[in-house]
Amino acid sequence: MSEVVSYSRKGQVGIISVNYPPVNALGQAVRSGLLEAVKQGQADDEAEALLLVCEGRTFIAGADIREFSKPRQEPSLPDVIEAFENSTKPIIVALHGTALGGGLELAMGCHYRVALPSAKVGLPEVKLGLLPGAGGTQRLPRLCGAQKALEMITSGDFLSASEALEHGIVDAVTESSDIAAEGLAYAEQAITKGWPVRRVRDLEGKLETGRDSDVFEQFRTTLQQRARNLFSPFKCVDAVEAAFQLPFEEGLKRERELFLACMESPQRAGLVHAFFSERDVAKVPDLPTDTPVRDIQRVGIIGAGTMGGGIAMNFANVGIPVCLLEAQQEALDRGIAMIRQNYENSARKGRLTTTQVEERMALIEPTLSYSALADVDLVIEAVFEDMAIKKQIFSRLDEVCKPGAILASNTSTLSIDEIASTTRRPEDVVGMHFFSPANVMKLLENVRGEKTSDEVKATVMAIAKRIKKVGVLVGNCYGFVGNRMLHRRGAEAIQLVNDGATPQQVDKVLTDFGFPMGQFAMSDLAGIDVGYRIRQERRKAGEEVPPTWMDKLAEQGRFGQKTQAGTYRYKEGSRKPIPDPEVEALIRQFREEQGITARAIDDQEILERCLYVMINEGAKILEEGIATRALDIDITWIYGYGFPAYRGGPMFWADQQGLEQILDGIRRFHAQPGGEQWRPAPLLERLVAEGKRFAEL
Ligand code: 3HC
Repeated sequence: MSEVVSYSRKGQVGIISVNYPPVNALGQAVRSGLLEAVKQGQADDEAEALLLVCEGRTFIAGADIREFSKPRQEPSLPDVIEAFENSTKPIIVALHGTALGGGLELAMGCHYRVALPSAKVGLPEVKLGLLPGAGGTQRLPRLCGAQKALEMITSGDFLSASEALEHGIVDAVTESSDIAAEGLAYAEQAITKGWPVRRVRDLEGKLETGRDSDVFEQFRTTLQQRARNLFSPFKCVDAVEAAFQLPFEEGLKRERELFLACMESPQRAGLVHAFFSERDVAKVPDLPTDTPVRDIQRVGIIGAGTMGGGIAMNFANVGIPVCLLEAQQEALDRGIAMIRQNYENSARKGRLTTTQVEERMALIEPTLSYSALADVDLVIEAVFEDMAIKKQIFSRLDEVCKPGAILASNTSTLSIDEIASTTRRPEDVVGMHFFSPANVMKLLENVRGEKTSDEVKATVMAIAKRIKKVGVLVGNCYGFVGNRMLHRRGAEAIQLVNDGATPQQVDKVLTDFGFPMGQFAMSDLAGIDVGYRIRQERRKAGEEVPPTWMDKLAEQGRFGQKTQAGTYRYKEGSRKPIPDPEVEALIRQFREEQGITARAIDDQEILERCLYVMINEGAKILEEGIATRALDIDITWIYGYGFPAYRGGPMFWADQQGLEQILDGIRRFHAQPGGEQWRPAPLLERLVAEGKRFAEL
């Protein structure tokens, strides 16, 4: 008997039980165990009906994604499902946790489905660049019709048990949460009531309505906007449409062809890399898994601006009380009003109830006094990027905060070690860099200082999870991982315009690549004054920072969206960037002043210069140990800067392109436009010489 699937009997019910932690994924051992168990159930004369149930925290959460990169092994999942569907005895399946992908497909191959109230079902394959490849696209529409099937399959979103019941995907939702007992009772009911074998493939009713409808074209049109650059969502529509056009067996064949096409696509590789990397970033190689974690029950936040307010919301959203400190009453009132407005907007969109809004607001306590921070377990400073101010704040915190409190800075560029040096407890000081809007963006770049203790590092990583962010632990340097690379790309984008490109041309290349917005649209959103102030600080500190046409924009008060004019102009109340002839003239004038003759720059050069400069910097970041692994950089860029997940992040993308090609480009740009940013990273040179990839580090 299989070690992961067992067969037993209670009364007249043959029980097939899966136990393959953590998520009962359908690896080869599970598939062959299931096949064996269903045969055993068929041969068991005492069994009148069969029950499929899983042990542990969840029903089967899908195919085993780790097997995607390995040669295929028998039996295939479609063969297993066929054996279940062909059973001559009714098979009941009991769902708990998350019945996903191949798990839900197997459940649809069974004859009756019962679910715990807390269960969720979904076909999330599209999020991995795939489509359901074991009959899901053919069986789901037979249960719930074209519209719902398309919604589920093209979005990958889950349904609750009650929604699944409403749409005919499950037949019943249980009262209690004892999955084994409820499943058994339902199977016994099937026997006593003489329920027949009911195969989803034979259910034709829901197919009739979809046949002549234009729902497929409608979905393709919406996907053109929502999933413009993606491959698999369109294949999902093709596969579901086949259920309405072809007999079941042929529909299955069509689904398989489309599934294999998705499997081969580079987007699938990128998305699967992103899936595992998102989980791997939490496992920091030099941070032991048994490192103790401090108990965080109350949090203090300094600064009630957009950033501080957004950070406060993250904690209130998960029930953690927050003390929000500002220097002036007026700023404090403004900050609290902004938080309330954000929550009320969510309530208007139906995402929160009015009671929830009040509960969350009640968790945020406004204060003007540092003494209110005496008993917090964690303080996050979120004020202006100014070292002198931050130092003052931290020495104050050192005086008022209790021993053991974690003192964190939300700085996006400044040295955590320098900030920590003003306290008597540098081991408790850490960076927690949130991304704007802080209540929305999923990344939390946690920055370890030289003296930060392991306990503090482990605690801030645990907090990331608690507030539903993806935490990445990085080292301390100017701009850390994310902004250090962004600044390189930003400077190169400005240089491209100096050389002859237009800002809109640069932005279009980046959005065509898959970024949600281009470099210049992004700096208009963040505020051009921010970059200007940083450049001015660096100039004051004696660094050689050449003048740019963006300095001129800032000097004219064109700060971006907030002044309705930056690199682009904006109509009142609109965020849509409109190219501005005034800026074109300003750029021309700048070139004249600098003696630059503009040349035509093609899109390929723009793409290479914007991305290769990041990869070169990424390689330096790895070499210096600022990021521990290439995947830490990938996740930082996917969740902090909208790098298209289907390209797997910048370092994965570089591996896919071939590092030799990237290094050639970097050497070419080093020779031509020149500059320190193009000095090839020694690590990159070594990897190319050894024929290795970043992923192998
Ligand atoms: N295959 C292999 N490993 C899986 C897996 C899968 N389908 N799903 C989760 N895991 C692993 C994770 O990598 C993680 O491993 P780790 O502990 O070593 O890091 C572990 O299981 C636990 O996962 P999470 O940390 O994500 O646990 P959560 O409780 O937060 O979430 C989950 C559980 C909702 C099931 C989430 O893991 C998930 O969404 N999994 C992917 C589900 C999915 O995409 N299924 C479709 C697969 S494709 C398919 O079925 C093709 C078919 O149509 C032919």
